Amino acid sequence: MSAETVRGEPKLQDVKMHLLRPTEPGIGIVTRNERCTASKKAAGFVRHIEIDVTGTPLVGQCWPGQSLGVIPDGVDGHGKPHKVRLYSLSSPLAGCDGQGRVYATTVKRSIDEHWDNHTLFLGVASNFLCDRQPGDKIMLSGPAGKRFVLPADPNAHDYLFFATGTGIAPYRGMILDLIGKGCTSRITLVMGSPYATDLIYHDFFLGIAEKHRNFTYLTAISREKAEGRSGLYVQDRLAVDRDHLLPQLSDERNLIYICGLAGMELGIFQQLALILQGDALEQYLRVDAAAMSDIRRWDRRMIHKEVRPTRRIMMEVYA
Ligand code: A2P
Repeated sequence: MSAETVRGEPKLQDVKMHLLRPTEPGIGIVTRNERCTASKKAAGFVRHIEIDVTGTPLVGQCWPGQSLGVIPDGVDGHGKPHKVRLYSLSSPLAGCDGQGRVYATTVKRSIDEHWDNHTLFLGVASNFLCDRQPGDKIMLSGPAGKRFVLPADPNAHDYLFFATGTGIAPYRGMILDLIGKGCTSRITLVMGSPYATDLIYHDFFLGIAEKHRNFTYLTAISREKAEGRSGLYVQDRLAVDRDHLLPQLSDERNLIYICGLAGMELGIFQQLALILQGDALEQYLRVDAAAMSDIRRWDRRMIHKEVRPTRRIMMEVYA
């Protein structure tokens, strides 16, 4: 077990899992499917998709931080039914309808070229989902996952959420749950995108930041100059906004959630090790002395070995 005991360790919310198995999926009906990037000129196609799960055991049981399984219609190249793919929920526990019957996910179309012959590659499940129209049926399983959820007592902690790309999905649901329940904890969201046009749910988070003083929304745009600086990755916010973030980071109440591209966790760990010292750092990371002497040379293989996150860090990263 990699996580090490630490003060302020959270007791996470108990959640149900696998109420629907991929071998006996339930049927959901799409009620809404719309682009959710900041501008229509966004480089990527990202869609907010709402699915009515009425009549399935999923009703009222899907927590943000968990995933739904989606089984695309049709068969694969070998004539076999498609396998299940997991998509993070972006809705709160009570769903988009307030009754736990309509849950949402956030999907980016996977569009690429085959590396060997440069023909078009389209990801099966992401394009299947993004193509769906209201009224279309979708085979669902889940919910899956229990380690990336909020604590059972949300008021007992503060939250520093890091997202890249569609890694933002769980935080939309979590923040709606926290704010909706009147949680007054400090909540800081750091969202990374290649271009400002590609920020996801941008107006939604701006609106929450305007109404709730305990919520701070920071963006990190990697391929544009902003605030007089060249591109930023989410971890750079730890240095740039150090004065704002240090008091929250140093508080025993604080938890860190990391969701998005594999690799982002390494950059965040390195930056934490650069700005925190001694006991403050040990609340999040246990680092071997030899590794501590050369932080900038860390690589991902060291995670869970020489560099061990504690239970104050929750991670969900994917290739
Ligand atoms: P970039 O691609 O400019 O290097 P999306 O999923 O929409 O492409 O957004 C992912 C964002 O995360 C981009 O801004 C991307 O920057 C950035 N990113 C890529 N690799 C890392 C990393 N190792 N750590 C933090 N951010 C990263």
